[in-house]
Amino acid sequence: MNHWYSPGLPEYLDRKQDLETTANQANTHVLMCQPTVMPSAFAPGKCILFGEHAVVFGHPAVAVAIDQGVKVSVEESDKWKLEGSSFEPSRHPHISHIIENIFQYSGPPLDIVVNSSLFSAAGMGSSAALSNAFGAAMYAYLNPGEKLDTVRLAKMAHSAEANAQKGRASPTDTATSALGGCVVVSGTAVPGTRHVFDTSLETPEGSREWAINVVDIPPEIGDAWLVIGYSGTGSPTGRMVSKVAKLISEVPDKMEEMETIANITRAGLVALSAGNLEGLGMAMDACHDSLRKLEVSNKKLDRMVSAARSHSLGAKLTGAGGGGCIVALTHEPTRVSEAIEVAGGMSLLTRLGAEGARFL
Ligand code: MEV
Repeated sequence: MNHWYSPGLPEYLDRKQDLETTANQANTHVLMCQPTVMPSAFAPGKCILFGEHAVVFGHPAVAVAIDQGVKVSVEESDKWKLEGSSFEPSRHPHISHIIENIFQYSGPPLDIVVNSSLFSAAGMGSSAALSNAFGAAMYAYLNPGEKLDTVRLAKMAHSAEANAQKGRASPTDTATSALGGCVVVSGTAVPGTRHVFDTSLETPEGSREWAINVVDIPPEIGDAWLVIGYSGTGSPTGRMVSKVAKLISEVPDKMEEMETIANITRAGLVALSAGNLEGLGMAMDACHDSLRKLEVSNKKLDRMVSAARSHSLGAKLTGAGGGGCIVALTHEPTRVSEAIEVAGGMSLLTRLGAEGARFL
């Protein structure tokens, strides 16, 4: 079977000279693959607490992995299938990028089965989770018994995101889904975090470099819940990122809002690291106000944020905006869910900082 000879993920990334991960970091993130009849993997979604949009311009962002995510299994088949239907590569750019460009796969057709517990295209990192879960399942299929390196997985999924988003994608969603826990993405070193790896991308606005760092979530934070409220309409990441780029080119003063978001992100991270839930919530409220000024919120998101705030420590839109989701930090998850639903949204609950991508 010629897929045994297809380059695996590590070989591909070796060729890209993408091996700056230290042995120590790699050890931290290596998981064992148990050979299975039907290789499967799970990757969590993410929730950005601070820094969406600003991170595309090199400012820091803080995101946590959530309990919900995407499971993918692959199995040889007589023809290419996705979710039981014929697989059309042009309609699934993340999956086709991974098949063609990452693994350069030319083996037998595959039946790809996807199960997601995320609202799709809603700012919960569903495409990043799909890329990670599919990349991991493909890796398990092509390299049975081998280890999964989640740092390399994160880089692979970032290239799939960038490919699908006209070259504009930060590594936030993909790194958080791959590594799990709480991830801080930044253009420069962030005090109080542990550096894991560096990554870069050529975007239409120029070359971008990011450092991926992690922070431990203190036990006090574990007392709180995140309630994610879905507005019912999608959050078109590529379009929203382009919209912000256009706004800034037309109104250069708006670039200052990016600095404001960066300051809020740093303050929010200090609060998070100290287990200061009140401070964390206040920073989330402030972040929403800045995102409104970047014109990425809408009436429904604002309505859900207001409704959630009455029982929350803080609430904001999360992800690209324009639709999609809000997130509220709370000790009263049921009340907040009810408030979001009364405001016309759908809700789900998660703790902060779930485990990252893994073989099943
Ligand atoms: C999308 O979840 C977050 C954005 O910052 C885009 C990105 O980071 O690639 C809007």
